[in-house]
Parts: sequence; C-alpha cells; structure tokens
Amino acid sequence: MTEVVPTWQQRDAKAVWHPYTQQYTWLGDDPLVIERADGVWLTDVAGRRYLDGGASLWVTTYQHNDPRLKAAITAQLDQLDHSTFFGATHTPGIQLAERLVAMAPGAPDDWRRLTKVFFGSDGASMVDAAIKLAHQFSVQAGDRRDLVLHLEGSFHGDSVAGSSVAGGNLMRRTYGPLLLDVRRTASPAPGRGQDPAAAAQHAIEALERTLAEYGDQCCALIVEPMIQAAGGMYPYHPSFLQACRRLADQHGFLLICDEIAAGVARTGRMWATEYAGITPDVMLCGKGLSGGVLPISAMLATEQVASAFVGLELARTFFHGHTFAANPLACSAALENLRMVSELDLPQLAESKGAILGQLLEPLLELPAVADVRRLGIMTGIELSSRHPRAGFELCQRAQSQGIWLRPLGNVVVLLPPLAISSDELGHLVAVLTELLEKPAG
Ligand SMILES: Cc1ncc(COP(=O)(O)O)c(C=O)c1O
Repeated sequence: MTEVVPTWQQRDAKAVWHPYTQQYTWLGDDPLVIERADGVWLTDVAGRRYLDGGASLWVTTYQHNDPRLKAAITAQLDQLDHSTFFGATHTPGIQLAERLVAMAPGAPDDWRRLTKVFFGSDGASMVDAAIKLAHQFSVQAGDRRDLVLHLEGSFHGDSVAGSSVAGGNLMRRTYGPLLLDVRRTASPAPGRGQDPAAAAQHAIEALERTLAEYGDQCCALIVEPMIQAAGGMYPYHPSFLQACRRLADQHGFLLICDEIAAGVARTGRMWATEYAGITPDVMLCGKGLSGGVLPISAMLATEQVASAFVGLELARTFFHGHTFAANPLACSAALENLRMVSELDLPQLAESKGAILGQLLEPLLELPAVADVRRLGIMTGIELSSRHPRAGFELCQRAQSQGIWLRPLGNVVVLLPPLAISSDELGHLVAVLTELLEKPAG
C-alpha cells in the first residue's frame, strides 16, 4: 500500500490556527505556502511566483532578501543575539533610539521634541503602552482622566486596549465587556467626490462637540495620522491633525499619533504627521521599522511626558515592558533600514512610485466594479462597488491565480508594494487587476 503524503496545506490545516481566519473555509481557499522571497516577489513550495502587492501585511519597506539588511543582521548575530532591555542595555538599542530621535518629526529647536524611545516588538503592544502612559501621566499630574478618544474608522491593533479604540463595531460587539471606556468621534476622511478640507472641518466640529462634553475626562486622543489604513485606506486633510494638536493642548490631554502603518516613508514623508507640520506628544511606529525583516516597534515620547516619569516614588515608574523589546538583531536591522531610508530617499521613492501607481489606476474609476480609488504615497485602496462580504477576498483570489498576492480589507483591495517595485512591475500589477475588474467572476 502506498503511503499518502499530506500536502503542506493539509499539515497546516491540522496544526496551525491563523490570525483573522475562519478555519472552516481555510483549506477550500487554497492558501499560499510561501517558501522564498526576493525583491518584490514571493515563491511558493511549488515554485510559483507571486508579486507581493501588500508588502507582506505592510512590513517590507524596500524589498525582500535585501543584502544590506541581511549583512546588518548577520554582523549583529556574530556579536550579540539577544540580551534583555530590563535592567540592562545594549549598543544597537542605544544607537537605534538615537537615530529615531534624530529622525523624529518637528524642527530641532521645537520646544515639543520627541526625545525618548521605548521599544516593543509589535504594534499593538505599543498602543497599550501609549494608552497606559497617557492615563498614568494624567494621574501623576494630579488630574486623573480615564477616557481615551479615538476616531470612527480607526484601527490600532488587537490587544485589549487596541480593540477598545477600534473604529468599527466588530471588536466591541465581540469583546465589549472586556474593553476600556472610550469616546469615539467622527472620521475626517472624505467620501468619494467630497472636498477633503470640508470633511476635515466637519470632523473638527464633531471633535469640538465631543470635547465640550468629555474634554476634561480624556487623557489622550489616538489617531492614525493622514490616512486611516486598516479601516479601508482613507486619506484625510492635514487640517484635522492640526486641530487635534490645538485641541489636545487646549483640553490638556496627550495627542498620540499611531504611525505603525503610515510611518517610515510609505506616505511620501518619513512620518505622516509631517504633512500637517505638527509634533505629537507620543508617536508609535512598527511594521516597516526594521525594513520588514524582524519584529520591532517603538513609542517615542516628548521630554515633557518622559520627565513626568522620573522620580524616586515607585508610582512614577512606567509599568510596561515586553521580553523581546529591543532585540539586538531587530535593532540592527532597523538601524540599517533607517540608513537606507535616508540614503535611498525612500519617502521620495514612495511619492514617485505612488504617483505612477495613481496614474495607472485612474482609468479604474470608470469601471462599474470600482467604487473608489484612494491613495497617499504608496498606500492605496481600491474600493469595490460590491458590498458582498467576500467581494474583496474573491478578487484577491483571482489575482492570486494570476501571480499577484494581495490581502483585502473587506471590499477594499489594498495595494502597498515594497518600494523597490519597478515601473514595469507596477504596470503588470495594475494590468492584471484591470483585467479582473473588467471581467466579472464567472
Ligand atoms: C495603525 C495601526 N496601529 C497598530 C497596528 C497593530 O500592529 P501589530 O499588528 O504589529 O500589532 C496596526 C496593524 O495593522 C496598524 O495599522
């Protein structure tokens, strides 16, 4: 009798539980089993190649298998694999913190500078850190505030605090009793054809109304600067961020800018907040920080915030930390990635590649299958007209059969390729999508 050898997919289905995935339909959806990656291409176990149209969940900043990042990690591995940041420190962590401070938004002579860096290993843990920090900061100032403000349509990760400030209703419907008490205010993102400045003004007025009622109870407002990414790739007008800055100061709470998706060059600026010329009190980054090779995240705080945690009383300690925070390998990759950001001018590359992508996508707006195309830098969303819950997923599956790997957000197909993508590859990506969108699934 011949032995039946299970496929990788079958072995996966038996042993693995995937994030945000219905296990029941998983195998039927023909999941990719990726084995290798190079440049902007992924290769599966059968040797088939797929253009990585979403930078592997928005992390691969420049390209896969980058020789500079590999060399940095290998050199670091020869030196120090891991040592803790609890009660000790290490040189790559210090250097990365210095570099992040030097690259932080705001003019060097600004009184409000982000001067201190707290490391984590993923985005959501930094959202938790920022919210705990803001609450503790208010307590230490003798003005305890328990509420966090956030925006409709926002996304800040899946920890309990992150789920509490999710801008949709799914998290509250599912985990409501576990979540923090928050207040939600209107999104500044315009609908198709709506004037972005007018949409921002509308949201500013809504925020002012919310603050008239709750302003003195809020310890923080958390926003995704300039683009609500996981909510469906909705860019918005910078006047909203400027108003957030003004209102946070007026009402005495912290402004937390969550740059985890938008930061590190993707929007066409190093930090999306640069579009508005503001400096937050707390800034978060992750995802593309290490160029996409190793997990690392960071929370930057102003001197004013950080200094409030300095003192002999135990209560002034910030009670937060993760085992792998500031892993030396991840720090070395991030340091090299930040050098690449400067030397290759990755913000400019995101702007120019984004402009090409935008031009290529313009004709799609004429198609009945397309409701909208939204973009900031290289961060792009194609909203489908269909409201079917699997519309985006099905389009991505059809793209997969044509050698393009994409992951949707509901009925929004996200394009966020690594920045090394060539004009020809961008053209190929859009040509495949155009053909699929012109032809309904049969
Ligand atoms: C703006 C924003 N914040 C936080 C997160 C959570 O990051 P992580 O998945 O690394 O926990 C995400 C993830 O997509 C994000 O887009």
